[in-house]
Amino acid sequence: MRKKIVAGNWKMNCSLPEGKKLASEVIHMVEDEVQNDAQVILIPPFIHLTGIHNLIGSTKKVFLGAQNCHQHQSGAFTGEVSAAMLVSCGASHVILGHSERREYFGETDELLAEKVKFVLENSLTPIFCCGERLEVREAGGHEKLVTMQVEKALFGLSAEEIRKVVIAYEPVWAIGTGKTASAEQAQEMHAFIRNQIAAKYDQEVADSISILYGGSVKPDNAREIFSQPDVDGGLIGGASLKSRDFTNIVKAFD
Ligand code: PGA
Repeated sequence: MRKKIVAGNWKMNCSLPEGKKLASEVIHMVEDEVQNDAQVILIPPFIHLTGIHNLIGSTKKVFLGAQNCHQHQSGAFTGEVSAAMLVSCGASHVILGHSERREYFGETDELLAEKVKFVLENSLTPIFCCGERLEVREAGGHEKLVTMQVEKALFGLSAEEIRKVVIAYEPVWAIGTGKTASAEQAQEMHAFIRNQIAAKYDQEVADSISILYGGSVKPDNAREIFSQPDVDGGLIGGASLKSRDFTNIVKAFD
């Protein structure tokens, strides 16, 4: 069945020593305490990737991801990082289209379609984010908007390619606000996204794709959210910066 995944997006937080401390605490706690088979993905800032990769070593449950990457292989793109560079630092996953990238860095669905295709060609797993802002939800436009995001960025892929994508549904109004979607709201949107994929590809493809929920997931709400049939884990921001909280979120699958 589908992979269960808990990914910690550190965003622009932690110096290298702080990041190493956080990562080694999480790695040890996950190894010692977690009973389930969820994949744990640590997603630090780019410059910490190698340092954290060395700590992960041969640990089976913990993987490394990046928060973004450029859509070209190499060249004169000052300040950017390519998919091949991420792979060479030990990353297996990359977040694409996080709402902060869309909002502050002008990333469009068209650009994200390019990035998704490109990282797949480089054998990285994209964690593709979608989700609506509060005013869209209040106006009842969330299904339409998320459909458009998913269609534009992912539906140019073949069935074989889209199977390799992880999707994160992250309602923007729940990110960093302490206001989480209810388990029912999350389930409703996850099932909706899965149905869209089934309609475009087929049910078997749709059933193989992990869909994570993101937005104020904490140790005390993770179990209820993760127990929904179409929720396959979480993309965690704030709570991923505390090793105990993050590990307890992973343990919500136990
Ligand atoms: P949060 O962030 O857990 O702090 O709400 C989630 C995210 O941005 O992925």
